[in-house]
Amino acid sequence: MALILLTFFLLLHQHAAIATLFENIQDVPPTDYDFVILGGGTAGCVVANRLSENENFNVLVLEAGRPNMGIPTVDIPLFEYTIPSRYEWNSTTIPQPALNNRSVNFPHALILGGSSSHNGMYYNRGPKDDWDRYARLTGDEGWSWNSIQPFIAKNERWTPPADGHNTTGQFNPSIHSTTGINPVSLAGFPLPIDPLGLQAAQELGGIFAFNLDYNSGNPLGISWGQYTINNGTRSSAAASYLAPEFMNRRNLHVLVNARVSRVLQTSSRSHVPQVLGAEFAQDLNGPFYRVNASKEVILSTGAINTPQVLLNSGIGNSTFLSSIGIAPLVDLPSVGQNLSVHASAKNAWIVNASAQTEDIIFQNQSLQNELIEQWMQTKQGPLVGAPVGLTMYFRFNDTVLAALGEDPSSGSTAPHASIGMQPANFPIVPATGKFLTMSTGVLTPTSRGFITINSTSPNVFAPPIIDAKTLSARFDVLAMREVIRTALSFVSAPAWDGYVVSPADNLAVAMESDEALDEYIRTIGGPNEHVVGTASMTSHEAGYGVVNPDLLVKGVTGLRIVDLSVLPLVTAGHTMAPAYIVGERASFLIKKKWEGHD
Ligand SMILES: *[C@@H]1O[C@H](CO)[C@@H](O)[C@H](O)[C@H]1NC(C)=O
Ligand SMILES: *[C@@H]1O[C@H](CO)[C@@H](O)[C@H](O)[C@H]1NC(C)=O
Ligand SMILES: *[C@@H]1O[C@H](CO)[C@@H](O)[C@H](O)[C@H]1NC(C)=O
Ligand SMILES: *[C@@H]1O[C@H](CO)[C@@H](O)[C@H](O)[C@H]1NC(C)=O
Ligand SMILES: *[C@@H]1O[C@H](CO)[C@@H](O)[C@H](O)[C@H]1NC(C)=O
Ligand SMILES: *[C@@H]1O[C@H](CO)[C@@H](O)[C@H](O)[C@H]1NC(C)=O
Ligand SMILES: *[C@@H]1O[C@H](CO)[C@@H](O)[C@H](O)[C@H]1NC(C)=O
Ligand SMILES: *[C@@H]1O[C@H](CO)[C@@H](O)[C@H](O)[C@H]1NC(C)=O
Ligand SMILES: *[C@@H]1O[C@H](CO)[C@@H](O)[C@H](O)[C@H]1NC(C)=O
Ligand SMILES: *[C@@H]1O[C@H](CO)[C@@H](O)[C@H](O)[C@H]1NC(C)=O
Ligand SMILES: *[C@@H]1O[C@H](CO)[C@@H](O)[C@H](O)[C@H]1NC(C)=O
Repeated sequence: MALILLTFFLLLHQHAAIATLFENIQDVPPTDYDFVILGGGTAGCVVANRLSENENFNVLVLEAGRPNMGIPTVDIPLFEYTIPSRYEWNSTTIPQPALNNRSVNFPHALILGGSSSHNGMYYNRGPKDDWDRYARLTGDEGWSWNSIQPFIAKNERWTPPADGHNTTGQFNPSIHSTTGINPVSLAGFPLPIDPLGLQAAQELGGIFAFNLDYNSGNPLGISWGQYTINNGTRSSAAASYLAPEFMNRRNLHVLVNARVSRVLQTSSRSHVPQVLGAEFAQDLNGPFYRVNASKEVILSTGAINTPQVLLNSGIGNSTFLSSIGIAPLVDLPSVGQNLSVHASAKNAWIVNASAQTEDIIFQNQSLQNELIEQWMQTKQGPLVGAPVGLTMYFRFNDTVLAALGEDPSSGSTAPHASIGMQPANFPIVPATGKFLTMSTGVLTPTSRGFITINSTSPNVFAPPIIDAKTLSARFDVLAMREVIRTALSFVSAPAWDGYVVSPADNLAVAMESDEALDEYIRTIGGPNEHVVGTASMTSHEAGYGVVNPDLLVKGVTGLRIVDLSVLPLVTAGHTMAPAYIVGERASFLIKKKWEGHD
C-alpha cells in the first residue's frame, strides 16, 4: 500500500515505465520512490540491484559521474592508471607536514560503478580478525567473519581467467562462490616475474611462505592475485550489478550526472528528525532538484563525499556547523573524523635490458595499438592483466613489534604490511627503461585523519578539506621503514640474479640510514585509495560514531549510510570486496526491515 510519495519537481512528461539509465532529469518518468540511493558507486550499485529485486520497491539511483560503458581505459584492466581525470574528483589533501608539506592526490572515482570502475580490481575480503573486530566494536555479531560469508557468496561469481589456463594450485576452490553477481578471476596473462617471485619466496621462506588463497580469512604469505575481471575486461559494480538484465527492471531508475548536495528533513512532527529527502543538481551552478523517498534515503557517496554531504545537511559537529552558518540538524561530532587509510609507497628497481616487462607497452605507441587491437578481437594478451600481480601479506614478528611499540592489528590473521609485485614502473612509466616495482603498504595504520567542508566557501560543491595525516604516527613511519626493507631483502633473493640490476630513483640512497629512509618515505609515500571511517558505525550505546550497526544514522530516521565510510578501521587489505560486502549486508538488513511492510 504505497502511500503517496514524492516525485521530482520540473517533470515535463511521462514515459513508458521501463527502467533505464537517464542522463537528464527531464527524461525521468514521475515516480513515487520507496528508496533513493545517493551514489551509484560500488555499494550503491549493489543496493540498487538487491532492492529492485522486489518489484514492489521503486528505486532511484543518483550518480554524480558519467556512465561507465564504452570507455577503453576503464574496460582494459592494464590501463587502470591511464583513466582520464574527467572520471575523477581530483581531490588533494591539505599540505601534509608528515609528507614534507606536500598536498597529495586523494583519488576517488566520478563514474557509475564508483571506484570499482576505476581501481586496481584487486579482490580481497580482508582477514578474519578484522571482521571479528568490527563485530566487537559494534556489538553486532552480524559483522563477524562467519556472519558475512553469505554476503560474500551473493557477491562473488568465480570465473575462469581470460587465457583459460589451468588454475589448480593457484587458489582454493572450496572457499569461492560461483553463484554471485560479480565475476572474480585469476590473472589471465602470465608474467615473467611470477615464477621469479615464487622462487624468491621459496628461497627465503618464513613470512614469504606460499599461501594457496589469501581470501580464506588468513591472507599471510605470498599468493596469486584475484581480480574483478571477466573475460579480460574490468567487471565493475556497474558492469555486473547494473548489467542490462537488471537495468530492464521497471522499478529501477538510474540518473547519472546528478551530484548530491544535501539530504533533507521531511518531517519535524516527532522530536527525531525524519530525513527522507535529498537535493541534487546536474550542473554545478544549479538548478537544484529535490526528491523524496517513502521508506529510506541511502547515502552511498563514498568515504570522501559522504561526510561532505552530511555536513552540508547539518549532520555533524553542531558547534562547528553553527559557527559557519549551517543550521544543525543533529549533533554527530564524529562525522568526517577518524579517517583511516593505508600508507603506501612505490619502490622501483631497474631490471635487465633483455627482460620482458610491461613498461614497453606504455613507451611504444605502435605496440600498444597492436595490443589494443588484440584485446578488442580476442580479449587476450598482456592488457587483460591488472597492474598488480603476486602479493605478499605479512605480520611483523614480536621483536619488530616491540621496537614499534604497539600492535594495532586485529589479531593473528591480520597482516601489518603488504608488498605487491608490479611488472613495470607504475603508475607513471618513464619514457625509457625496464623496471620491477614493489608496491609497499602499511595495512594497520594508527594515524587518523579527517574530512570536513571548507568553512570559507559557501558552495555545497566546493572541494572538501582533506587532512589524511598519513604517516604522521610513529608506528606508521617505522612500519613503512620495515616493509621497504623487507621488499629489499625479497629482491635480494638469488632468484632475481640476472633479472634485477639495481634500485631505481632514490632507493639506494634511502638505504644508507634511517634518516635517509624517512626522507625517502616523506618524499614518495602517502595515502592510497583505501579510505574508511568517516561515518563510522559504533554500538547503539557508544558515545561517538555516526551510524548504528544496522547502518542507520544515529539521531534521525529514514537515513542509512551504505559505503566504506561506515567501517571503523581500514581492513588490512584492499577495500573493494569489503565495499561489496557492506552493500550486500545492508541490502539484507533493508529488505528484512521493509519486506512485508509495503
Ligand atoms: C518532499 O517532502 C517535503 C516534506 O514532506 C515536501 O515539502 C516536498 O514537497 C516533497 N518534495 C517533493 C518533490 O515531493
Ligand atoms: C577533474 O579534472 C578533469 C580534467 O580537468 C575534469 O574534467 C573533471 O570534471 C574534474 N572533476 C571534478 C569533480 O571537477
Ligand atoms: C611545513 O610547513 C610548516 C608550516 O608552514 C612549516 O613550519 C614547516 O617548516 C614546513 N616543513 C617543511 C619540511 O617544509
Ligand atoms: C591441472 O593441473 C593439475 C595439477 O597440475 C592436474 O592434476 C590437472 O589434471 C590439470 N587439469 C587439466 C584440465 O589439465
Ligand atoms: C566540535 O567543533 C568545535 C569547534 O570546531 C570543536 O572545538 C570541538 O572540539 C568539536 N567537538 C568534538 C566532540 O569533536
Ligand atoms: C575516534 O575513534 C576512537 C576509537 O578508536 C574514539 O574513542 C573517538 O571518540 C573517535 N573520535 C570521534 C571524533 O569520533
Ligand atoms: C614498437 O613496436 C612495434 C610494433 O610491435 C615494433 O615494430 C617496433 O620495433 C617497436 N619499436 C621499438 C623502438 O621497440
Ligand atoms: C570473450 O571475448 C571474446 C572476444 O570478444 C569472445 O570471442 C569470447 O566468446 C568471450 N568469452 C566468453 C567466455 O565470454
Ligand atoms: C624479526 O624480523 C626482523 C626483520 O624482518 C628480522 O631481522 C629478525 O631476525 C626477526 N626476528 C626473529 C626472532 O625472527
Ligand atoms: C576554501 O575556500 C576558499 C574560498 O573559496 C578558497 O580560497 C580556499 O582555497 C579553499 N581551501 C581549500 C583547502 O580548498
Ligand atoms: C642480463 O641477461 C642476460 C641474458 O639473460 C645475461 O647474460 C646478463 O648477464 C644479464 N645482465 C645482468 C646485469 O644481470
